[in-house]
Amino acid sequence: MRNADVVIIGSGIAALMAAEKICQSKNVILFTKKKIWDSNSMLAQGGIAAVMSEDDSWELHKQDTLEAGCNVNNIEAVEELVKNATNSMKDLISFGMEFDKDKNGQFHLGREGAHRKNRILHSGGDATGKHLVETVYDRLKDKVTIIENEMAIDLIIQDGKCTGVHTLNELGELKSYFANTTLLATGGIGAMYQFSSNNTSITGDGIAMAYRAGCEMADLEFIQFHPTMLYINGECKGLISEAVRGEGAFLVTKHGRRIMKGLHPFEDLAPRDVVSRAIFNEMHKGEEIYLSIEMIEGFEKRFPTITANLNKNGIDIKKGLIPVVPGAHFHMGGVKTSANGETTIPGVYAVGEVACTGVHGANRLASNSLLEGIVFGKKVAKTIAELPKVPTDKNQVKYMIPRFRTLPPRDEIKEKMMKYIGIVRNEEDLRKAIEYFSSFIESKTLESRPMNKEELERYNMLITGKLIAEAALKRKESIGSHFIEYIDQPANI
Ligand code: SIN
Repeated sequence: MRNADVVIIGSGIAALMAAEKICQSKNVILFTKKKIWDSNSMLAQGGIAAVMSEDDSWELHKQDTLEAGCNVNNIEAVEELVKNATNSMKDLISFGMEFDKDKNGQFHLGREGAHRKNRILHSGGDATGKHLVETVYDRLKDKVTIIENEMAIDLIIQDGKCTGVHTLNELGELKSYFANTTLLATGGIGAMYQFSSNNTSITGDGIAMAYRAGCEMADLEFIQFHPTMLYINGECKGLISEAVRGEGAFLVTKHGRRIMKGLHPFEDLAPRDVVSRAIFNEMHKGEEIYLSIEMIEGFEKRFPTITANLNKNGIDIKKGLIPVVPGAHFHMGGVKTSANGETTIPGVYAVGEVACTGVHGANRLASNSLLEGIVFGKKVAKTIAELPKVPTDKNQVKYMIPRFRTLPPRDEIKEKMMKYIGIVRNEEDLRKAIEYFSSFIESKTLESRPMNKEELERYNMLITGKLIAEAALKRKESIGSHFIEYIDQPANI
């Protein structure tokens, strides 16, 4: 049994930004169920959206964020995000973060889908997330207790308040940590899907855990599919950044037909839900879809990470065509929070992709996610740092790890997610998903042994999957990333 002022669960940029600030006044324990580098932030290629030029403004960034989000965003959260972007970039630069510059020494500002202006800062070409995470990690690594390979299983709730978390360490031992504040920063749900850009550890644990504790959820049906994952032999092999289309690449069939022509005024840089559905529909008709990159000069230099991955997977860049498929990329919904990160349970805060402040609405604008982690990571940290220090309640609590029950194989869950709660949905499939997940969750035949880490992950996937399907069934109209077809009334792209 250990205690801390604050326990943080997760190791992406939102977790690290929060830890960096909170550890200046409080003691912090940070857990991650794998290694500190196992996060989606580490994989982020595109960059960080921020107003950095005179012909741009926070008002325009706000407008683009709202339009991508179909205007169902929380305006207060959007303003918080875009108004704090420029200063947050200055702070990062003072931390030692280096953004790429052009030959005149000015920041090279990239363009991505649904942005009216070039406003994407990047670092190391397409290694922005890695450089960002490493920069922030360097500032806190000696000030925070970091525990790797330990999975948070359940929040400790006493008298309606969270007083810490139960975990399972790498030896399979149950541990309890007591804290006045527990911050969920576990990331999203992408690895619950067959096709995904996410780190394989991103299995919806934060949502399942918060749900079991009684936290309210919001907008769970809003899941963004990124249009361009590298697609080889029916498998997804990593992200091809939207920044590639920002540099002029476009989507074609194997006969060279441009699929985005005439579908949207921004064509290949239309919002991600529009582009993903266009590819989905083409593939449904039997087409193979490629990203044509031959017009991009110096591709290898601008996109070194993507180039290395293409080489590793035997794709010859000189041929100028990359086979692609859409994959689950980002969850706009999550644990419902205020802009300060408060959830509906005292003592539990959430930030980053696991949280839903409503900032992204029904579809996130490209390169607003690292920005969210940075801006809201700092904001939740300020709120937590200002909480009064009270002695941590170290009462013994009775807790049992959920018992083993029959669970389906991981690949089967991922296939069901893709098939039933994917890019295009319908009521029948959503009901099938709920029935499938429920049949395991509600099983009455439990074994006496507790589940291990891997089984708990699958159990969390089932719970989170069911919650997503239920939320999707409730939203009757298509909006942004949630696209639902009715037999007699097919929705338009
Ligand atoms: C990308 O590089 O295309 C992903 C960036 C993002 O999701 O914002």
